This record gives sequence, C-alpha cells and structure tokens, in this order.
Amino acid sequence: MSVELGVELGRLRLRNPVLVASGTFGYAREMAAFVDFTKLGGIVPKTVTPLPRTGNPPPRTVETSGGMLNSIGLDNDGIDYFLENHVPYLSGLGTAFVANIAARTTEEFATMAGRLGEHIRKADRPGIDAVELNLSCPNVSGGVDFGTNAERAAEVVRAVRESCDLPVIAKLTPNVTDVRPIAEAAAKAGADAVSLINTLQGMAVDWRARKPILGANLGGLSGPAIKPVALRIVWQVAQAVDVPIIGIGGIATVDDVLQFLVAGASAVQVGTANFYNPSVSSTLVDGLAAALGEEGVSRVTDVIGTLTANELG
Ligand SMILES: Cc1cc2nc3c(=O)[nH]c(=O)nc-3n(C[C@H](O)[C@H](O)[C@H](O)COP(=O)(O)O)c2cc1C
Repeated sequence: MSVELGVELGRLRLRNPVLVASGTFGYAREMAAFVDFTKLGGIVPKTVTPLPRTGNPPPRTVETSGGMLNSIGLDNDGIDYFLENHVPYLSGLGTAFVANIAARTTEEFATMAGRLGEHIRKADRPGIDAVELNLSCPNVSGGVDFGTNAERAAEVVRAVRESCDLPVIAKLTPNVTDVRPIAEAAAKAGADAVSLINTLQGMAVDWRARKPILGANLGGLSGPAIKPVALRIVWQVAQAVDVPIIGIGGIATVDDVLQFLVAGASAVQVGTANFYNPSVSSTLVDGLAAALGEEGVSRVTDVIGTLTANELG
C-alpha cells in the first residue's frame, strides 16, 4: 500500500515529516556518507549567529546515566561565512533546508532574517525553505532567554516576519513552568510553526574534584531520557495553539515518531540519535511508511493529533 507522507507546516511543505535537528547534523556535509538527503523531510543545520563564536570552554559534552549533556554554546563561524560557504551546499541537497538562527537582540534577529531573505531574492534557485528561531539563547537586554518570556518571544517572531518572507518556526525551550503561553504568543505574532523542545537544563558533577564536569558548569540534556517530557509538552501545546508543531526530543525509532504525531506534532526532528546512528533519519522515513501501511493508513496527516486523552473523574 502506498502511503502519502507529505505534510504542511503553515507555508512550509515537506516531502515527509522527518527532519534532522539543529546541532546534531553539522552542516550536512559531515553526514553525506551516511544519509541519502533526498529521503529526508528536511535538514536543520547548526545555529548561526551574527558574528563568529568560539562557544563554551571544554569539556562541552558528557554522557550521563540519563542521556547526553552538552554545552557547545553556539560555536559557529557567523552569518557571512554561513551564507557564502554552507548555504550553497545546503540548498542543493534535494530536501527542505531550514536555517536556524540565534542572536542577542530582537534587532539582530531581524537583521539576520533580512540577510537570509535577501540571499533568496538574489539566488538563481530556491535556496532556504524556512527559518527556525533558536529562542533558547540569552536576550542581552533582559538577561533571560528569549524563549522564557512570551513578550520577548513574540517580539522576535514579529520582527523576523517583518524582515523576511520565509516561513518562520519558533523553537522553544522546555526550561519554563508552562510553554503554552509562550507558544501562543509566538503563534499570535505570526509563527508558521513552533518546534518543541530544545534541551532541558542539567548538570553533571565530579564529586571527588568538587567540580562540575562541563566547562560551562551547566548543559542541555537530550536523548531518550527527555522524550516523555517532550511528548507532554507537544501534547499540551497542541491543545492550546492552532499552529503546526514540530516534535523534538529523544526520537530514535518509528514508534517514537508516531507517538509524537498522534500527540499533535505535524513533523518531528531527530537529534541525539544521529550521534549514535548517523543514518537513523533516513531509516525512519522508510519505517514510517511501512508502519502506517500496516495499520491501513494511507496518509500520514490522518494520524496527526488523533490521540484522545482519558476522561478524568
Ligand atoms: C550536541 C548538541 C548540539 C545542539 N545544538 C543546537 C543548536 O545549535 N541549535 C538548536 O536550536 N538546538 C541545538 N541542539 C538541540 C537539538 O536540536 C534538540 O532540540 C535537542 O537535542 C532535543 O532533541 P534530541 O533529544 O533528539 O537530541 C543541540 C543538541 C545537541 C545534543
């Protein structure tokens, strides 16, 4: 049985709902030997910032009993280098390319989005398909991360919408009491979709040395340990907003993908699993079609958001 895997996230159309997550797939070149890019729904390369950044002091990753902890700290070569060296490659891979950006102020976010928009207008072939805003980064004027404050998050989405025509995805942090008001604000400000979740803040300790293990002291937890948290947040946000959701967090199997889809995600991103199985993303696309076919489902969109919660007395 042939299964239609195409999904729409606002103005962004994807061949299938399986993307790879920012920071876990490099700029794709690194993965070319392992993945047939044309099979994927899309690629989100590592976050790019206005200027080059060296990132945090080492060690920047540590394996814990409950998942991977990282404090890379947005190490990247800046937007000029990105546009010149990575965008031409990423835009020719035969799959959707979602640029992921971060900045210290709303104005910087808008300027970067403007640069991406300008690049598209000048390029002779369609290049960048959408922009994902990494809102899990500090807002210089207020100190807190953009994604922990509904107003700040909305302000960035609005500014980016005004400065470029690309579909906008707001990637939100789980490190708040309730993601719903922030997702609502992002949606109201014009986000085409929200992606949930970025890493959960954590810490690893070397008690003999009386020191944190990571050079930056704190890091972000990812991998299968965070999947139940991500599913909870996707499900809660799906009840609260009308915009499509991209589910992220510990996805490694076809069942994981389908759990996120029935909980309300219209697409998913595979992150940490790429590190221990670099070809997992393309395997999941094949497996998804097979699993849906076995269930007699002919379109993936028929399962999105189909979970019904138990009635509580
Ligand atoms: C080593 C590493 C680097 C990451 N770098 C970024 C990044 O640059 N930008 C971003 O938006 N998310 C980044 N993330 C977060 C992932 O995209 C993803 O949201 C998170 O890891 C949860 O998914 P997972 O459990 O499948 O890894 C990074 C994650 C890891 C493990």
